[in-house]
Formats: sequence, structure tokens, C-alpha cells
Amino acid sequence: MRMYDLILKKRNGGVLTEEEIDFMVKGYTEGNIPDYQMSALMMAVYFKGMNEAETLALTMAMRDSGEVLDLSAIKGVKVDKHSTGGVGDKTSLTLTPMVAACGIPVAKMSGRGLGHTGGTIDKLESFAGFSTEIDTDTFVQNVNQIGIAIMGQTANLAPADKKLYALRDVTATVDNMSLIASSIMSKKLAAGADAIVLDVKTGSGAFMKKESDAFLLAEEMVKIGKGAGKKCVAVVTDMDQPLGYAVGNALEVKEAIDTLKGNGPADFYELCLTLGTQMLLAGGAAETETEAREKLEQTITDGSALRKLAAFVEAQGGDAAAVYDTSLLPRASFKKELLADKDGYISGITCDEVGICSLILGGGRETKESEIDLSVGIVLQKKKGDAVKTGDVLAVLYANDEVKLETAMDRLEKAYCITEKPPMMTPFIKGIVR
Ligand code: URA
Repeated sequence: MRMYDLILKKRNGGVLTEEEIDFMVKGYTEGNIPDYQMSALMMAVYFKGMNEAETLALTMAMRDSGEVLDLSAIKGVKVDKHSTGGVGDKTSLTLTPMVAACGIPVAKMSGRGLGHTGGTIDKLESFAGFSTEIDTDTFVQNVNQIGIAIMGQTANLAPADKKLYALRDVTATVDNMSLIASSIMSKKLAAGADAIVLDVKTGSGAFMKKESDAFLLAEEMVKIGKGAGKKCVAVVTDMDQPLGYAVGNALEVKEAIDTLKGNGPADFYELCLTLGTQMLLAGGAAETETEAREKLEQTITDGSALRKLAAFVEAQGGDAAAVYDTSLLPRASFKKELLADKDGYISGITCDEVGICSLILGGGRETKESEIDLSVGIVLQKKKGDAVKTGDVLAVLYANDEVKLETAMDRLEKAYCITEKPPMMTPFIKGIVR
């Protein structure tokens, strides 16, 4: 088999066989196929597309390019959740203890943040001493004993995707549905769960800006999940403004904990209930959506989800006292309020910009090597649809550096749009793809 022939076949609109896709993924990962040939093939795929069978074959080949976690030593149906990412997305911190408290084992691999969206691992490190660098035995043992464990992505998880994604990133071939779906799903499938619930974000802070694209991606990923023999469902949700109010690591942890104490923002709590419902159904912990929702709500009212979070944090070396007393979380040295300069309604908040403001304050990573400041960030006080009067507080910025604070403040001011008339509000949960 020759890579040249595969490029030619795809360029002419042909369909690649499973064998051909395996050859190309293996050859590229092992360094036998050069970047220039793989770039040409990716560009051909970009223009000619891939059908369902090709997309599944690509996913499986990338999944099998490295270690595929064997979670069979964990009792019960393992259900994983994946979000396509956004600003203020602290969902795993609240959702996983809720779901675990309902008896679903959560064995999760998470990543660090890069750019304007944060990563679960960084957020969890707000608990002093917390570590995700645990070996597979401890990971399995913790899930069996406590119900939750989260570890960092191993270097050997879908290495073909890592190499290919880096190439796509510099050859303008990222935004193709088959390539995105197979990239995300190869990593999820390598992480070993029995069922996968996907949270596909749409809006100004999401990878998929257009709702129709988010649905297409959700459909592609669900087809792959099912094709790989897993239960798979996707929920398409709003990311046109930040999720909840808090953006920034420790600030988000506090909001996640407040939600477990029953004092969370409505949109965020609704998201946890919606995703949690799908996880309980997939894991067989509930028969109907109503039953699942009731069970999840119960974990908040009886405090079992909060206790679950504390047990999980402690098991991974973190200071669980901060779960009960959030003043122990990292705190910035000063704060400043952003005030409304006119009366009206918040008609929109440019979501990306809020994430970038948090990055400027030091809460995100510009490069993989950057150190992040866990204490800084933004807590919005007003969101889309809210009425405001001149001088009302729109947001509070938490910082450790005056210059960064002023730069972020200027940008955040521009991210808020105030109009005379109230905006049209769209549903937060856009739909479910089964
Ligand atoms: N995220 C991924 O993991 N892969 C893509 O191709 C795009 C976004």
C-alpha cells in the first residue's frame, strides 16, 4: 500500500477502506509517513469528506494507536461525560459527585486548560495538595471504594490523534466534522468507559459557534460511540455566555461547591441535572428521566453529593476542609467592580472575551508551559436578559496584579452589550441527540 494512492483516491472523491485508514494512521504515528503526505490527505478529507464507516475506522485506528484503558476491574457500568469546552465550565466538579452519589462509578480522565477555557485538573488543584498523578491501580481502587477518581490524560492516550491534531492545527484542516468527531471520540473511547454522555456547546464561547454545526457534531459523535459498541448520547447546550457566574479556577470551584450545597446558579444546576439524568439512564441507575432527576436532586438535599466530593478530594491528597469552608480556597489579593454606564438590559456577553479576561488576569495558560494563578478570575453579577441601571455592578474582577486588572477591566467592559430593549432569550438546553 502507498500513501500516494490513498491521497489520490480521496482527492478524487473515493472512499477509503478500513485497511487503508489503519495503514495511514499506523504509518503516520510510527513516523513512516511524512507530514507533507498526511497534510495532503487531511486537505483532501477536508474537501471530499468521510462517510460514516470511514469516520468510525479513523476513530478506532486512533484509539488503538496507544493504550486503551481497561476498566473491567471497576464494578458497575462506567459512564463518562465529555464537554467540548467553554467558559466557566465547572460541570465535572459538581456533576461527578452527584452521579457517584447515585451509585454510578465515575472513572475519569481529564485535561488541563489551554487558552481561554479552563481544564478540570487545574480547577481541582485549587484544593491544596490535590493530585491527578495517580497510577492505574490507585485509580481503579479509588473508584471502587469512593465512587470517583480523576486522573490526568496519559501521554500514551491516542497518540495518533495528538500528532494529527497538531498537524491539522497548522494546515487549516481542523474544522471538518468527521475529523473533529473522530479526534474527540478516539480519546474518549481510549479512556475505557462503557457509556459516554457528551455535552456539545454552541455559541460565542464554544468551538461550534453555530447551533446547526453543534447538532451535526453531536450526531457524528453519537454515531461513532454507537458504532464502537458504547451507549452514547449528546446534549447540545448554550455557551453564548459563560456558564454560571464564576470564571477562574478557585472561583469556579467555589461555585461548584455552592451548587452542591443547593445555592448554585440556575443554568448551571439545570445542566448538571440534564447531563446527570442521561448518565443515570445510561448506567441503569434510573428507569425514567423523572426518576433520575429526583435521585440527583436528592443528592443535593441530603448532602450526599457534597460528602462524595470531600471523600474524592481527600483520597487524591487534597484538603477536603475547603469543601465545607470555601474561604480556604486560594484567594486573590484585591478585587474591582465593573459598573454599568447606562440603563437598559444585558443583551449579550461575548463569551470568549470573558475567558480571555480571566486568561489576562493570570487564570489561564497562553502556552503549555505557563504557570497559572488559581485565585484570579471574574464573577459576573449580571447576565443576558437582566435589567440594569447606571452604576449597577456588572461583574467583579479578582486579581493579584494592577496592570493585568486594568487590561482585563477594559476588555470586559466591551464584552457586555447593554440595549434599551430586552433581548430574545433562547433555551439553555438546545436538544438531545440519541
Ligand atoms: N478538540 C479535539 O480534541 N479535536 C478536534 O479536532 C477539535 C477539538
